[in-house]
Amino acid sequence: MADITKKEIVDSVPQKGFFGHPKGLFTLFFTEFWERFSYYGMRAILVYYMYYEVSQGGLGLDQSLALSIMSIYGSLVYMSGIIGGWLADRVFGTSKAVFYGGVLIMLGHIALAIPGSVSLFFASMVLIVLGTGLLKPNVSSVVGDIYSPEDNRRDAGFSIFYMGINLGGFLAPLVVGSVAMDNGSNNFHLGFSLAAIGMLIGLIVFVVSKKKNLGLAGTVVNNPLAPHEKKKIFTTVAVGFVVIAILVLIGIQTGTLTFPLFVNIIAFLGILIPVSYFIVMFRSPKTTAVERSNLVAYIPLFIAAVMFWAIQEQGSTILASYADTRTQLEIFGFSIKPAFFQSLNPLFVILLAPVFAGLWVKLGGRQPSVPRKFAFGLLFAGLSFLVILLPSYFGGENSLVSPLWLVLSYFIVVLGELCLSPVGLSATTKLAPAAFSAQTMSLWFLTNAAAQAINALIAPLYSEETEMVYFGVIGGASIVLGIILFIIAPKIQSYMKGIK
Ligand code: PHE
Repeated sequence: MADITKKEIVDSVPQKGFFGHPKGLFTLFFTEFWERFSYYGMRAILVYYMYYEVSQGGLGLDQSLALSIMSIYGSLVYMSGIIGGWLADRVFGTSKAVFYGGVLIMLGHIALAIPGSVSLFFASMVLIVLGTGLLKPNVSSVVGDIYSPEDNRRDAGFSIFYMGINLGGFLAPLVVGSVAMDNGSNNFHLGFSLAAIGMLIGLIVFVVSKKKNLGLAGTVVNNPLAPHEKKKIFTTVAVGFVVIAILVLIGIQTGTLTFPLFVNIIAFLGILIPVSYFIVMFRSPKTTAVERSNLVAYIPLFIAAVMFWAIQEQGSTILASYADTRTQLEIFGFSIKPAFFQSLNPLFVILLAPVFAGLWVKLGGRQPSVPRKFAFGLLFAGLSFLVILLPSYFGGENSLVSPLWLVLSYFIVVLGELCLSPVGLSATTKLAPAAFSAQTMSLWFLTNAAAQAINALIAPLYSEETEMVYFGVIGGASIVLGIILFIIAPKIQSYMKGIK
């Protein structure tokens, strides 16, 4: 760590000024609100943009390819958090990382806002993947920096921040969806421009308010590269980059690098990266015996989180296409836009998060252990898929179903999300060895990245004919895994040393 101590950082942040929380939380809250607004606004229409016919303003891609792209894209967006975390830790500090990330994201949305070219479409993905990797994990970790370790407002601070995420995720599909999809005459590019404007506002909030509100937070480079390391690393990165670029070019030229192969490679990375992470942490001499035991306990939790996010994230892919093609969208004289369904998950999170927080407080010592909460997460996720299977069971696969089935499914998955997601983040920070604590945010992001990589692999299995088997098998698998986890929970708990 450089010359500035953690205490000096906390002292430099005005400790009041945002709902009784440090003023810096205002800056972080709104930066992340607008970033999520742009991300989820874009995602709410992107899937339709890809598979709608050119005559409807879309790209006319095959639907199952579009669903795979959504997942592989989502996976890369969170995988790149490793790069973003590393750059912040060793090169420019979190604050600059957030700024550069925001700029890249905005450029990415601008690229999508320009009509006409598939290469702009891919350029936009690269920009948003790198930009989100720089911004999201780093803005989240600054939240931790503005409180002193003893401050008991800390957990509440993270909950308020989580509200910011979901408020952005709730409003964006409504606003962007309304502008972009207007029965028959779609204007997707206008929608993407709104996403770009959202990110621009976020950047302005960040730049204008950070000096006053964040003080020294985010300005310190924790573990700066030594000059001799610099040269070595930059050479390795440059060589690696050139080698990969050449391989990709050859692959494209010769036709060997097909999309299915690319999906396989990313899915493989989605599993390889966390496994290597665990091995490195486990074998590191800096990891103590107690920490090693904690790591063993973390493995089943990691796997459970992957299963959970695999289902939760299909809310923006498979269920989004279900909303579009299988659901009655004219109801009580209103016409609902399919993109609106994307607002349900964040809406339920906002409404229910306080209920769950209150429930845990009320249960106090009687509340379920961390592994048991994860088990509940899986049970609810599984149920949310079984529920969506029922209408086709009753009505056949060809009739349009009531939107209320989808609403119910999104509701149930959120019950699971609130058992697993907030607990998961804090368990990650507690279970990761101290020497690796700076990277724990990216470790948690990898649960989601691995899940979406797997989703990209399985998306082609979904079609209207296979939907019952599809939802049944995946939902069933999650429930079985949940039951196993529930049973072995005490064993896992016994490996978690000094953590309740
Ligand atoms: N809804 C979550 C968010 O936007 C999705 C997520 C979960 C992302 C876990 C990263 C890690 O923050």
